[in-house]
Amino acid sequence: MLNFTFYSPTRILFGRNQIQNLGQQIKPYGSKILLVYGKGSIKKNGIYTAVIDQLKENGIDFLELAGIDPNPRLTSVVQGADLCRKHALTFILAVGGGSVIDCAKGIAAAACYEGDPWDFWSYKTKIRQALPVGAVLTLSATGSEMNSNAVITNEATGQKHGVGADALYPKFSILDPTYTFTVPPYQTAAGVADILTHVYEFYFSLGTEAYLQDSMAEGIMKTCIKYAPIACAEPENYEARANLMWASSMALNGTIGAGKRFDGFCHNVEHAISALYDLTHGVGLAILAPHWMEYVLDEQTVHRFALFARNVWNVEGQDEMEAARLGIQKTRAFYRSLGLPGQLSEVGIGPERFDEIVNKSLFRETLGNFKQLNREDVSNILLRAQ
Ligand code: NZQ
Ligand code: ZN
Repeated sequence: MLNFTFYSPTRILFGRNQIQNLGQQIKPYGSKILLVYGKGSIKKNGIYTAVIDQLKENGIDFLELAGIDPNPRLTSVVQGADLCRKHALTFILAVGGGSVIDCAKGIAAAACYEGDPWDFWSYKTKIRQALPVGAVLTLSATGSEMNSNAVITNEATGQKHGVGADALYPKFSILDPTYTFTVPPYQTAAGVADILTHVYEFYFSLGTEAYLQDSMAEGIMKTCIKYAPIACAEPENYEARANLMWASSMALNGTIGAGKRFDGFCHNVEHAISALYDLTHGVGLAILAPHWMEYVLDEQTVHRFALFARNVWNVEGQDEMEAARLGIQKTRAFYRSLGLPGQLSEVGIGPERFDEIVNKSLFRETLGNFKQLNREDVSNILLRAQ
């Protein structure tokens, strides 16, 4: 286990009707806020009304920034920061999935910065200050509700980058599983693929095993495997939605990553793809992860894959290599059973821009920690995923 610092300051209010506490949670941060949300799902399912009622009951004035795109754009960040400065807003409330929460975090940082906000996502400067943010989560996937990351797309340059900073942790997040009842099966499945891939990024490591964290990681993966099909078949199954919601937060709040390294291959390559093709993040990960697993499986990595196969998928296998292969096959079949694609061609992506994807994914000579992969390897995996 490597040395680590664990910091997790977000207050979680989990369960039915936790929205009743929204006003009280916001009040310490002022009474003029920015309400940020997406393209309209919260108006259809009634969450918008519940939020507005709370704000009015508690005497909180608000301005709205609606229409945040999935894969949120830098232009929305700039627009929101302008509103905060112009109207002296002191708090930002995000109501939505990871895109809305990430955008709210981006606005929070940009509102406290004089320069071009892309400086943060191009790693020219660090985020040291941000307005306080709170979240009402409506989709289980990214973990943004309980972490310090914000992933933003610069549509002008075709780049999608993530940054992390202590100032970006939400002050609180309301996690009411009933708010995810209206998430369609395909989006539910994509969210599960995202949760699983956050776990893979930590679980698949060499020389940094941490029994406790790895056992918790296996628990999160088993939770996804058990409850994803139920949530897709019975969207209003509370236990399924509740387990997936907490799995979303636990996969990327630092718990299972403590003392481990983030591999990053699947996430870096997926961000490069969705920057160019505006693909749903979890769909890109569902395609890439099994191809990456097959590519990096060798004598060095087989033990970890065999553990994954045996502990998560209950695979027997005559030897470690056979068990490892069966585990990867099960992973692929699981995504298929949820209606997710297995190849890039299925989502209309051909090889034309593979070079660009390779360039955008590689910040250094190599990518990944479990197995360090060079440009040629990244290309090979893309060709297999084509
Ligand atoms: O636009 P609205 O109306 O909100 O609809 C959304 C959107 O179309 C819809 N949706 C959300 N809640 C719903 C609902 N539809 C019906 N009922 C509900 N209750 O779902 C669609 C997708 O929403 P989005 O927020 O884009 O999904 P997700 O939560 O998967 O977020 C994806 C973004 O987060 C980034 C991704 O790269 C991507 O940009 N990530 C953020 C991370 C982080 N901050 O830690 C880590 C991740 O690895 C990831 O990179
Ligand atoms: Zn992710």
